[in-house]
This record gives sequence, structure tokens and C-alpha cells, in this order.
Amino acid sequence: MKYPIVKPFLPPLNDYTAHITSIFERNWLTNNGPCLQKLEQQLAEYFNVEHLLLVANGTLALQVAFAALNIDANKKSSVLTTPFSFAATASSLCFAGITPEFVDINPNTYNIDITKVTPAQLSNASAILGVHVFGNPCDVDTIEQIAKQHDLKVIYDAAHAFASNLNGESVLSYGDIATLSLHATKLFHSVEGGAIIFKYKADYLKAKQLINFGFDAQQNPEFVGINAKMSEMHAAMGLSLFKSLPHITAQRRALTVRYAERLTAIAGLELQQWHDSGENNGAYMPVLLNSETVLVQVQKVLTEFGIQTRRYFYPSLSLVPAYGMQGSTPIANNISERILCLPMYTDLALDGVDEICECLIIALKQAS
Ligand SMILES: Cc1ncc(COP(=O)(O)O)c(C=O)c1O
Repeated sequence: MKYPIVKPFLPPLNDYTAHITSIFERNWLTNNGPCLQKLEQQLAEYFNVEHLLLVANGTLALQVAFAALNIDANKKSSVLTTPFSFAATASSLCFAGITPEFVDINPNTYNIDITKVTPAQLSNASAILGVHVFGNPCDVDTIEQIAKQHDLKVIYDAAHAFASNLNGESVLSYGDIATLSLHATKLFHSVEGGAIIFKYKADYLKAKQLINFGFDAQQNPEFVGINAKMSEMHAAMGLSLFKSLPHITAQRRALTVRYAERLTAIAGLELQQWHDSGENNGAYMPVLLNSETVLVQVQKVLTEFGIQTRRYFYPSLSLVPAYGMQGSTPIANNISERILCLPMYTDLALDGVDEICECLIIALKQAS
């Protein structure tokens, strides 16, 4: 494909091998090693947050978050969440024996619209799990207000929200806990990896034990934990990429602006409405088409032009039997049938965006 949907961004090989050489010299490969500690510190400073833990991936980040907040199958066992997300949002809940209660989304921002929650859904809920979908900050004020009224914890699956800001600060500083994915396809990555950001130190300290089998300082399992540790080799990739962050974020934002310039006011196509007080991080480039039939045709034509697109996120998670299908979410079901993500990666050039947009406009004409 001339234009893949994503392309992992790699640091200069020399930078990575310098870190790997030092790991070989130390022969300290995992278990809270120096590379991991340094990356944790750099990221905490970058996000301006106090309590940050690196973990093996974004899915374990979610599972550790639930356990740190005592959200489990033994108590009130449902969590209010969005059906418009990647499978991991719902599957991490189900895997922990927690029922996802799906609440519909806002048709413009594609984020959970918590005002649509029903009294029945609230009756057994212990938390709200919002997703800043495609990096777009949720309506954090309304979520916090409803959480306070009903004594609910708030977790944000911020897998897409690296470098996404709200009210001038990182969106990761909202909620009791926010989780990141540092998977290879993400804006910033450690090949596989994730991070957990905590509002409260006590939750951070508990999670630090949880990710290491629940061991206390004497290496005794104080409670049931898991192995969610990030290795030194993975942390080394994050360290090698760290100094490219200004370039990555500037380039992603420029690509987003260029896409918006080319695609605003095109008939048969809508763009995601970003949070008024947020700053787009350029993680994804979703477009909403008029119907699933048009989407299938457009995708086919774009493939012929050498442009890869992806149906993020389809199907709506509330329609997946394995996730329990709790909740009525007509808006999410409809949006997920019509949304298509266009190529977005740091190495994409601005004239690449121009070409993709020209082809998309041709594809739309052919499909209508
Ligand atoms: C919304 C969301 N949550 C969680 C994850 C899981 O992250 P990981 O692949 O690092 O386990 C992803 C992965 O892309 C995601 O998109």
C-alpha cells in the first residue's frame, strides 16, 4: 500500500542500540530497572502528573486500574462505559468478571454521553469508564458531576490520548485513574506497553504491588496480583523515542490541520467535533460517511488507489454477545457503521494528505 493506515515511528537505530548496550552491560533486563525508572520519570514530567506507572500493555493497565480501585466481581459489579471503542475497553472488564453497562455516545464527539445513563444502569454501577476516543477529551465535567452524585469512581481509558490536552493540561490528569497504551501503532510507543496515571498516591502504591504479583517489600504476596511489568528492552524504545516527541506532536498536529482544511465542507462527510477546551493530538483521522453502503464503496475505491483505511471502531461493542450486550445505544451502533479512519502516522507528508483527500473526494463521488 502506498499509504498504510498506520506506520510505527522508529528512533535512529544508534539511539536504541546505545540503550540496549547499556542493558547488556548491566545484565538487568526487567523488574523495575533503570531504563523503566527513567522513562517513568520523563513521562511523569512530560504530563506534569505525580503518580505514573509503566506496564506491559494498555489492556493490563485497565485491569490493574480496576483492581487498584477495588472494582471487581465481588461487589457492585457493573461499570458504565462506551460502546464506541476498541475491544479492550469492554473485554478488560469482562475478563475481570465485571459487567460493561453500555451508555450511548454523543453523535458529534463520539464520546460517552453520561447524561443518557438510566436509573437501572446506575443502580448496580461502581464506576464510569470513559474513553477519550481518538484522543478527544470526554465531557469530564459532567462525568465528574454524575460520579460524585452516585459515588462512582472515574477511570479514563486514554489509550489514544498521549499528548492530548484539556484546559491547557494533559487530559491524563482527569479521573481517579487514566490509562495509556504504548503499543507500536500509537503516537508514542515502547513496542508493547502501557501506563497508568493515578490521582491518589494510595492507589498508585497499591497498583505498584499489583503489577508485581501483589508482593510486599518482603516479596510476600499480600494480595492477589498479576505480572504486568514492562521490560528494560521495551522501556529502552520509549527512552529512544522521547526526544522525538516535539517532532511527533508538531507533525501530527500539522497533518490534522491539513486534513481538516481539505475535508471541511465536503458533501457526504463529517469530521469529529473536538472538545472546545482541548487540543487535538493528531492520533487518528476518522471521517463519518452517510451510510455503511457508501463506506464499503469508498473503502474499496481507496484500496484501489493504494490507500489503506480501517473501520475503527466496528462493530459497536454493545452488539457483541461476548460482552453481554447491556444497554441501548442506537447512536453508537449507527456511527460505528459509518466511520472510517484515514492514514495517520508521523512520517506521512502534507502532500500525502492532499493526495489521500483528492482520492477520497473521487471515491465519494463514485459512491453517491
Ligand atoms: C481504546 C483502547 N483501549 C485499550 C487498548 C489496549 O491497548 P494495548 O493494545 O496496549 O493492550 C487499545 C489498543 O489500541 C485501545 O484502542
